[in-house]
Amino acid sequence: TVIRREDYQAPAFWIRTVDLTFDLDPAKTIVTSKLRIERNPNAPQGQALKLDGEELTLLRVLADGDSVSFRHEPGQLVIDNPPAPDSFTLEIRNAIAPEKNSALSGLYTSGGGFFTQCEAEGFRRITYFLDRPDVMAVFTVTLRADKHKYPVLLCNGNLVEQTELDHGRHCAKWHDPFPKPSYLFALVGADLVAREQRIRTRAGKDHLLQVYVRRGDLDKTEHAMNSLMASVAWDEARFGLSLDLERFMIVAVGDFNMGAMENKGLNIFNTKYVLASPATATDQDFFGIESVVGHEYFHNWTGNRITCRDWFQLSLKEGLTVYRDQEFSADMAGTPSARAVRRIDDVRGLRAAQFPEDAGAMAHPVRPDSYVEINNFYTATVYEKGAEVVRMMATLVGRDGFRRGMDLYFQRHDGQAVTCDDFAQAIADANPGSALSANLAQFKRWYAQAGTPTLHAEGIYDAPTQTFTLTLRQTCAPSPGQAEKHPYVIPVAMGLVDAEGRALPLQLEEEDAPTGTERVLVLTDGVQAFRFVNIDAEVVPSLLRGLSAPVHLRDGLDDAALLQLLNHDHDPFNRWEAGQRLALNRMLQAVEHRAAEAVLDEAFVAAMRAVLRHPTLDAAFKELVLTLPSESYVAEQCASVDPQRIHVVRELMRRQLAARLHADWIWAWEQHQVREGYRPDAQQSGRRALANLALRNLVLHAVETADPVWQGRAYQRVKDAAQMTDRFGALEALVGAHAQLAEPALAHFHALFADDALVIDKWFSLQAMAPEPIGEGAGQVLRRVKALMQHPDFTLKNPNRARSLIGGFCHGNPAAFHRADAAGYIYWADRVLELDAINPQIASRIARAMDRWNHLAEPLRSAAREAIKRVAAKPELSPDVREIITKALESS
Ligand code: ARG
Ligand code: ZN
Repeated sequence: TVIRREDYQAPAFWIRTVDLTFDLDPAKTIVTSKLRIERNPNAPQGQALKLDGEELTLLRVLADGDSVSFRHEPGQLVIDNPPAPDSFTLEIRNAIAPEKNSALSGLYTSGGGFFTQCEAEGFRRITYFLDRPDVMAVFTVTLRADKHKYPVLLCNGNLVEQTELDHGRHCAKWHDPFPKPSYLFALVGADLVAREQRIRTRAGKDHLLQVYVRRGDLDKTEHAMNSLMASVAWDEARFGLSLDLERFMIVAVGDFNMGAMENKGLNIFNTKYVLASPATATDQDFFGIESVVGHEYFHNWTGNRITCRDWFQLSLKEGLTVYRDQEFSADMAGTPSARAVRRIDDVRGLRAAQFPEDAGAMAHPVRPDSYVEINNFYTATVYEKGAEVVRMMATLVGRDGFRRGMDLYFQRHDGQAVTCDDFAQAIADANPGSALSANLAQFKRWYAQAGTPTLHAEGIYDAPTQTFTLTLRQTCAPSPGQAEKHPYVIPVAMGLVDAEGRALPLQLEEEDAPTGTERVLVLTDGVQAFRFVNIDAEVVPSLLRGLSAPVHLRDGLDDAALLQLLNHDHDPFNRWEAGQRLALNRMLQAVEHRAAEAVLDEAFVAAMRAVLRHPTLDAAFKELVLTLPSESYVAEQCASVDPQRIHVVRELMRRQLAARLHADWIWAWEQHQVREGYRPDAQQSGRRALANLALRNLVLHAVETADPVWQGRAYQRVKDAAQMTDRFGALEALVGAHAQLAEPALAHFHALFADDALVIDKWFSLQAMAPEPIGEGAGQVLRRVKALMQHPDFTLKNPNRARSLIGGFCHGNPAAFHRADAAGYIYWADRVLELDAINPQIASRIARAMDRWNHLAEPLRSAAREAIKRVAAKPELSPDVREIITKALESS
């Protein structure tokens, strides 16, 4: 059944308080729930009380202590005649089977402990409830369990009491003073240990921070704790938001459907985003932990204190919280250059995941209009494009204005469940004179219209009058259900750069004086012209700096102009962008002209060399410039996609850069070794990233030229590197070059880390994403992936493992996946069906590998459709997978 945004109705009843008791047992857990219920005077009267419930065994229902008649509807328990008073008590007792819960939604077991995941609709798999985010209740929870097996019993809020029971059981009682929706409920019962840290915040309060992990993992929690402390300090300093609970807990669990969850005071995390030591985690892993710890912590205010009225408003909390975690990471990175690196990384993520989503079968607005399964809408659009929408607001009102807007948002809505409109209104109202408040209704089209707009730009310089006229035009292609698009409000951060690299003062003809050398133009119409005066030289426009809006840019700049920006732009983001565009243009040309040899011209190679050898640019920035656009990003630019062809072109270009910059790569490798002790900071990780890129190039060239030296060096690194970034970098270099030593290196690596699940995940995904050999040997990756499914370490039941191998292959290796013989698609269909019976959320993510099938070149397109139809033909699909598959077929 389809749920529509326009059908929202306030609930007929509120639940004010909840008293829960859990008798925890893997096979049969008994849940007792006492609900204080009130009629909602503002809703139509006389409605039945309909509680959500799934896979529950109902044992008893009492209303105000008496039996009450009830009936079942699909997914609901209906009480047609609840007690007449305006408020009453409902007591429910039911049983659940956590150990049978392979979907990992609700209460489940993992590694011998109990864990929960309730967002979005998991609470109804624990007990009957009004399982919707606008029903907020105060929870008191009693947990009872075997003390020996489950010595740690945790729940939201504060620990009220802990007692011993008979038969070796014990009991803990928790109280959360903040009313919250059921999706923020969490409990843990397990054998865990904690790293603890006491802190005093700026607000002068003392708090206890805890990071709970399995015994033996304590030495991998330092970075998570540091990240948590930094998050607490940052939210106070930047937004004036303090921790509001005596204790704040993070618990790591090995079986988890996503990254982490912001349950009030009791965040539950995938181990991937908690556990790290230099020996077992890469710089990227360290960064991911900082970012996700921040994200979940920041949700305490943007998500928990102010939550969503309904799930269509998901971006209210997710877009805003992603924006906040991106800003946190940028501030942590420190220098302007390191900030730019963070922004480039975020934009790469947006383009790799969100732009394709917006152009495919699952395209939807940041605030969707309908859904079948809400879990399918935890998407790059809701999260990352949602963050871009918040970022544009911040751009339009300025940094201080955004802070004022946030203050007003909390003043107005703390403790409420609200909508995206409420958020935008607060930011605008706090900034009356701004371009946001002047155009608020139009700005909100960013929430309503799907698809990535295109910004077309044309600049004309008129030497006699010294004017530069910039004409901006916007278009947006139709998306499912939205044939016509109306113009957006597009902030265009820009500057003008002349041949000497000067940034020109910017003065529009209607202005008295220049406003500086960088400014934000606000495009609101379909077409608008901006006339700059006193421009005394030919200039190149540097537009959309920092990707100031989530759009495609078509500015028609030629190679000479792009080279000028690459060499001189004051904005590091657009410098990087110019380099990427130079590479992309060459790749697209080679793909389209089916040139047998895609030969890189000397001008491009020289420009790359100049960046690599540049005396002042940061290593991290160089690494980004010297990395060719990804195959999937190239595919996005093609009307009809031939993944094989794109792969061949990119591989050939990679080899040319490896060969023609050989001496430079040796220099880069030698210059960027880190000899101090390990720190996962921007500076060191940048050096390691560039050294690893150099090594990949050196090994690639060595394999081409049958030179054993660099292969041997890489192999040596796999054996004796001091930390994981270098060890894994060397392994990647060997695997990515099809070096002979790749096999022994993989075997050696596996043996070293056989007991570390997160490292073994990397080992699986590296092989799933290995480049397909060009020419002979095609099909090699799929053969290996199939063999790895038989590996004793492989299991479909653990989401991280399934994602590493199956997700790595289907989502992360286009040339190996999209095969003319359809073998990749057959594999995909089999896995989707197999996983769907175990865990629909994970199956549905894999299913999305076919989102863009309709853009494939033949015969891939037809083969893909056959595979999708085969999945669709299965009668007992989960709603999760059914929705994805139906949309895929509709997109033809
Ligand atoms: N709210 C969590 C976060 O953004 C993610 C929850 C994902 N839930 C889901 N059903 N997919 O941190
Ligand atoms: Zn989130």
